[in-house]
Amino acid sequence: QIEAIIFDLDGVITDTAEFHYLAWKKLGEDLGIPFDREFNETLKGVSRTDSLERILELGDRQNDFSEAEKDELATKKNAHYVELIRNISEKDLLPGIESFLIQIKRADIKIAMASASKNALMVANALGITSYFDHIVDAATVVNSKPDPEVFLKAANAVSANPENCIGVEDAAAGVDAINAANMFSVAIGDSTILSHANVVLSSTEELELNRIIDKYFAS
Ligand code: G6P
Ligand code: MG
Repeated sequence: QIEAIIFDLDGVITDTAEFHYLAWKKLGEDLGIPFDREFNETLKGVSRTDSLERILELGDRQNDFSEAEKDELATKKNAHYVELIRNISEKDLLPGIESFLIQIKRADIKIAMASASKNALMVANALGITSYFDHIVDAATVVNSKPDPEVFLKAANAVSANPENCIGVEDAAAGVDAINAANMFSVAIGDSTILSHANVVLSSTEELELNRIIDKYFAS
């Protein structure tokens, strides 16, 4: 039986993935390292420090900055991101998410969050959804970025669920890898060409329906 459903946040519960993109894009442009949405796919689900490294590598500038300067760049990106999400509220929940959370609660299945974002708790509070969650992993305690399974395993452990009896929901390729590596059933939201390694790919959160996903889990 399913013991827990573990959610990514950015790009799954709300469209903050777009704001992360805009904030990194601006930093990249300031550094003379412009990039497009295709490159941005490789940043999704990846921690702040690792994302900065990838951007600097793209511009072949990874050795141009001291650790203190890199901290400053990451802080600058975050300040811009926080500014962009300043006004988010319940209205920014993606369609179908709240009804999916209610379905899961009614089925007596645990709900957890496995986001790489240090802003996750603040965003969840602004969206008014923290009460649905049995556990939200503190990204600051996670050592290894997705595609490493660490954050999903921490979430499962916190709600005393066996990973094999968990379903993970992601929008990032690295996130789907993390769910699969955790030995969980992966549900991806987005482009099926980018997310083809997931057990189930849905084009939108509107398609999230608990019974259908459970059927697919047992059919797998
Ligand atoms: C999520 C997002 C990434 C973001 C990361 C760190 O995984 O998908 O785009 O870079 O969190 O977020 P933070 O808010 O800690 O900078
Ligand atoms: Mg995401």
